[in-house]
Amino acid sequence: MQFPEGVRIDGITGDVTPSTGRYLKKLSALRDLYEAPELVDAYIAQHGDVDAYDVIEYRPEGSDICFGTTIMHPGKIGREYFLTRGHFHAKSGRGETYYTQSGQGVLLLHSRSGETRAVEMRPGICAFIPPDWAHRSVNTGTEKLVFVWNCTIDAGHDYAGIATRGMRQLAVEQNGRLAVIGNPKYRD
Ligand SMILES: [Fe+2]
Repeated sequence: MQFPEGVRIDGITGDVTPSTGRYLKKLSALRDLYEAPELVDAYIAQHGDVDAYDVIEYRPEGSDICFGTTIMHPGKIGREYFLTRGHFHAKSGRGETYYTQSGQGVLLLHSRSGETRAVEMRPGICAFIPPDWAHRSVNTGTEKLVFVWNCTIDAGHDYAGIATRGMRQLAVEQNGRLAVIGNPKYRD
């Protein structure tokens, strides 16, 4: 039987109490998602294989929904910022929300039919991610980007499609500011 529970979420650190699981992504695991993977090698040679992001989950056994936080560290690889892998949900018809708690960033999205959108991530903005839109978050600031995600457990993750084809858009720094541009390396 499931019981109600209040879960404390720290919007600065991203800590979730209680939590049911967590994982950490190192920068090296994201190497081939960048437009210039050799710059990831150079970054790691200089700074070490730093933490790129943490995910902390609250996933009660038997529940249909789950939520948790993603804590993205700041950093840049060439003109790109630190980013998450990006995914479609494995199950069609499953959306999600990303509610930013601290930091600043941009959420890149594209639909299966090729439409693109970018949604600003900053405290107070809760992004609606419709079903069947790929999503990747990017930390464009100098502090941690912390957001709360909320989706159904059966949504699942399809990371392979984005790993193979890339996202349709890139978030890059141009003339000292954020620009969202088409990804020249996207493979349709
Ligand atoms: Fe998702």
